[in-house]
Amino acid sequence: MDNRVRIFDTTLRDGEQSPGASMNVEEKIMVARQLAKLGVDVIEAGFAFSSPGDFESVRRVAQEVEGPVVCSLARAKAEDVDAAWGALKGAARPRIHTFISTSEIHLKHQFKLTKKEAMKRAVEMVGRARGYVEDVEFSAMDASRTEPEYLYEVIEAVINAGATTINIPDTVGYALPQAFGELIKGIRENVKNIDRAMISVHCHNDLGLAVANSLAAVVNGARQVECTINGIGERAGNCSLEEIVMILRTRKDLLGLDTSIITEQIYPASRLISSITGITVQPNKAIVGDNAFAHESGIHQDGLLKDKTTYEIMRPESVGISRSKLVLGKHSGRHAFKTRLAELGYDITGEGLDKAFERFKKLADKKKEVFDEDIEAIVQDEVLRLELPERYRLLKLNVRSGTDTPPTAEVVIEVDGKPVSEEGRGDGPVDAAYNTIAKITGTKSTLLKYSVNAITGGTDAQGEVSVRLSEGEHIVLGQGSHTDIIVASAKAYINALNRLEYKKKEKRENLIL
Ligand code: KIV
Ligand code: ZN
Repeated sequence: MDNRVRIFDTTLRDGEQSPGASMNVEEKIMVARQLAKLGVDVIEAGFAFSSPGDFESVRRVAQEVEGPVVCSLARAKAEDVDAAWGALKGAARPRIHTFISTSEIHLKHQFKLTKKEAMKRAVEMVGRARGYVEDVEFSAMDASRTEPEYLYEVIEAVINAGATTINIPDTVGYALPQAFGELIKGIRENVKNIDRAMISVHCHNDLGLAVANSLAAVVNGARQVECTINGIGERAGNCSLEEIVMILRTRKDLLGLDTSIITEQIYPASRLISSITGITVQPNKAIVGDNAFAHESGIHQDGLLKDKTTYEIMRPESVGISRSKLVLGKHSGRHAFKTRLAELGYDITGEGLDKAFERFKKLADKKKEVFDEDIEAIVQDEVLRLELPERYRLLKLNVRSGTDTPPTAEVVIEVDGKPVSEEGRGDGPVDAAYNTIAKITGTKSTLLKYSVNAITGGTDAQGEVSVRLSEGEHIVLGQGSHTDIIVASAKAYINALNRLEYKKKEKRENLIL
């Protein structure tokens, strides 16, 4: 068995299942390009049958992103497998990933299928997928709660039907590392034809064990790990790509395993995902958290000054974090700006670059120093927004408030190309602006969360506002930044309303397994 562990990135599929993390097609393309730079082996670009938006994302990633295998998820149903192929046709290296549950709990209560029926469907759909592509992955959903003997039988049957990768998910994050490792060992020892397929694992983090379980699996012979950037994903998320990769790289001495990941691209990928999804990383998160390489204690600092290896097991540069943060200012030119964007994971050209650079120049005139966080906020505001069809656009905002002035707002918004103005009141200036925006747009959404962040230090800092809105089954996130936090707040609200419009239009199939 070789010692290379394949990295299957599912940020665009399972990662997107994090509440409120949905990305539009252009954002997915940007992420997929960064994943290709990172050197992942497989990009799971979406679930083609689930919605026209997902179909389009898989299709575009398949056509436009070079390097990794591009994969679409598909239930073990003919319409799903056909849609996956429809979206993947343009890929240089397509993979269809089909799945069905194998645990008694799921089969009895959710699928209402007997074991025999589930096996038959799995075999038929793997065969159907093989009619389209040579690279077929089969997942036995809830494998960690499946009776092992039955799991072995299903695996043997789907390999005979043509599956080339067998994925063992710990769908509900229930497994413990030792038992999960033994499950993988059991598969290797009991499935006769297992040498004809690669074993993959897909662990969820409900008990905080997704990385530990994935590690136990590779130690016991799995050679593909399914993971996401920053560990985002359904509920508590998935195995974190950066953690499993850096464990294998840092402890190669002991484990003898490695990946093909270009680790210097980890931090840009992490920043890109946080900025697009609005799901920030906790400061103490391993590898990519703000404090991951910050040494506070005097004893540690003293040791580091004498020799870095005293307290540092990895170099920050090895994951793409530079020790000296390059700060741009008003004398920085377009080339320096573009170079910094690339270092932060943004591959931006054309109109997007022009807009971002123009905004950067304006900001640099107001602020002495422009930090990475400022640049990310600019991209969020000027570039990613360009890709979102905008029904609403903020034209004007004036607020009055103070100790003796009741907060009022005058707002002008372009709605479907026509300016609409209104005035409104509120408990404070933001509330007044939001009430007025709600009046103009007639939104029925509920504001779930509002938060303001000073992007960098100093009173001249840009304020970055994030809002989360819900309407019916839709939850969206909006972001806005500006040196005036009331303007940033209005931009974030309008950004969220535009995203809501986009989501409402995108019809999702009501998927029944
Ligand atoms: O968690 C899970 O079981 C999944 C499968 C579809 C692979 O996401
Ligand atoms: Zn999953």
